[in-house]
Amino acid sequence: MQQSTSLHVAIIMDGNGRWATRRGLPRPAGHRAGAAAVRRVVEAAPGLGIGQLTLFAFSADNWRRPPREVAYLMRLFARHLRTEAAELTRTGVRLEVIGRRDRLAPVLVAAIAAAERATAGGTRLRLRLAVDYSGRAAIRAGALLPDVDLLIRTGGEQRLSDFLLWEAAYAELYFTDRMWPDVGAADLAAAVQAFHARERRFGGLPEAAAG
Ligand code: FPP
Repeated sequence: MQQSTSLHVAIIMDGNGRWATRRGLPRPAGHRAGAAAVRRVVEAAPGLGIGQLTLFAFSADNWRRPPREVAYLMRLFARHLRTEAAELTRTGVRLEVIGRRDRLAPVLVAAIAAAERATAGGTRLRLRLAVDYSGRAAIRAGALLPDVDLLIRTGGEQRLSDFLLWEAAYAELYFTDRMWPDVGAADLAAAVQAFHARERRFGGLPEAAAG
């Protein structure tokens, strides 16, 4: 399904821990599988008419998790940025990390800067990774992104959890019970298809009634 419009899709990637626990695996195994799902979704996005993809990787409240899990996630982010930068560059993906950097480890900050530099010329997809991100803090700081068209949350919960609060003002919301590590191109396509089936009115009247 090739769409001509350029959508901004945002995803709250939830369910890594439960995915692992249900398989009798430690939670980090879920995060590792979640990283593979990130790769699948990034690859599929441009073909679905998505020009901007913003992924919630770590919220400002996720610091409340056990230090070992936080440390694992931070190492995973740094490793992923280092190993994926070349492929992102090759496929025209421009990566940008949003959120606070002053609480991140220097090695992660360096990996972010290197990946951003390497991919700066990408024009096919604008990929944003939200790390130590808070939507409320972003509003207070005026650090706002373009409006979100479609906001997806996996893992069965139906809430925004301080993600892109301003930008999602008119976003279509799409919730799925699927755990993030199980998500692939077909799931993203289904969400985009559901988006196109909705009528966006932005406070106006339905097209039929507008005369
Ligand atoms: C939510 O699942 C996921 C996270 C807090 C971390 C997001 C990380 C990834 C998707 C993997 C790595 C990403 C990159 C960009 C390399 P959860 O742990 O809240 O799951 P649960 O609700 O089942 O416990």
